[in-house]
Amino acid sequence: SSTIRLAVIPGDGIGPEVTAEALKVLDAVAPAGLRFEQSHYDLGAERYLATGEVLPDSVLAEVRGHDAILLGAVGGKPNDPNLPPGILERGLLLRLRFELDHYVNLRPSRIYPGVTSPLAPHVLEGRDDVDFVVVREGTEGPYTGNGGALRVGTPHEVATEVSVNTAFGVERVLRDAFARAQRRPRKKLTLVHKTNVLVHAGSVWWRLTQAVARDFPEITVDYMHVDAAMIHLTTDPALFDVIVTDNLFGDIITDLAAAITGGIGLAASGNVNPDRTAPSMFEPVHGSAPDIAGQQKADPTAAIGSVALLLDHLGHSGTAAVVDAAIVADLAARTGAPRTTSEIGDAIAARVAG
Ligand code: NAD
Ligand code: IPM
Ligand code: MN
Repeated sequence: SSTIRLAVIPGDGIGPEVTAEALKVLDAVAPAGLRFEQSHYDLGAERYLATGEVLPDSVLAEVRGHDAILLGAVGGKPNDPNLPPGILERGLLLRLRFELDHYVNLRPSRIYPGVTSPLAPHVLEGRDDVDFVVVREGTEGPYTGNGGALRVGTPHEVATEVSVNTAFGVERVLRDAFARAQRRPRKKLTLVHKTNVLVHAGSVWWRLTQAVARDFPEITVDYMHVDAAMIHLTTDPALFDVIVTDNLFGDIITDLAAAITGGIGLAASGNVNPDRTAPSMFEPVHGSAPDIAGQQKADPTAAIGSVALLLDHLGHSGTAAVVDAAIVADLAARTGAPRTTSEIGDAIAARVAG
């Protein structure tokens, strides 16, 4: 019998609602002999507003001692004067990604049978299935906080957010993306960047893509500028297999990818540390959705899908596949009649158990 130590950070808004359903499914699917020992951490807006704490070092150290992290979402109510933008996003979510070296931000996108895409039917008809994964770099780019502001509040204000792209950081995420492409039937990798304008960062991404490609001769390598990639994602998303890209482009691409494949409520993600020097973290792509929080309106499917990614990462691919199959079956059976967050969780939990 083995025990998996899970750190759970439900967070803010719909975070706790969807996380409860994800844990319900995890409970229902755990095979005999596999135990999940959970520690819950009350990090997020409430704690910050009450204590001023975002992620105390001692809590980070404790979280680090787990096998994996399940996170709901963080982010308070919009325009709360007591909660400046970025405090939680940078101080909690990005700090976890950076400190735990989650350099692969894995965001799979598929249009499952029965799911309505907002794309017109003729866009999808006669094409291959839409089934791609975005490998978003998770520790660099414009997210590092490398910038500043001068003469704030004056007409002469200058603000910079400088994108950091190291050969080390770019090469390691490229290697992971190529290896993933190698394990997929189509064996295709598309680098998405903006090499025509961001020439310094673009150059390192492009050169290292060419270099790493030499170690993966079976992979078809493609390149697209990020603006053109938006065209192709909406006019022919079946073109894509593995997309590899920087942190900010990946953020934007994956919200569009979620939208075209059935909605942000379905999009799961993993912040993966492939070297396993620290626990990886699994979370829905969406945020805390203050507009629907506390109303049992959130779709927990993305959070439940994140549990499948977590199980797969920990080597329980059979159990992960059971969760995925239950999600697919639930999606195929959806009639359009609204269900509450917990009704969807119950239905998927019943499918994994039965
Ligand atoms: P959001 O993803 O929270 O919401 C965008 C829209 O999608 C909203 O209309 C929301 O109601 C809807 N939505 C989101 N999740 C849904 C679900 N599961 N089911 C149904 N509808 C869903 O993005 P936002 O409004 O830009 O951000 C809100 C807060 O969340 C901000 O503070 C932001 O910084 C934060 N955020 C956190 C994360 C994270 O924790 N990983 C991710 C994105 C945004
Ligand atoms: C996401 C979110 C985060 C990001 C924010 C909240 C820091 O949008 O997980 O996609 O930009 O990575
Ligand atoms: Mn995002």
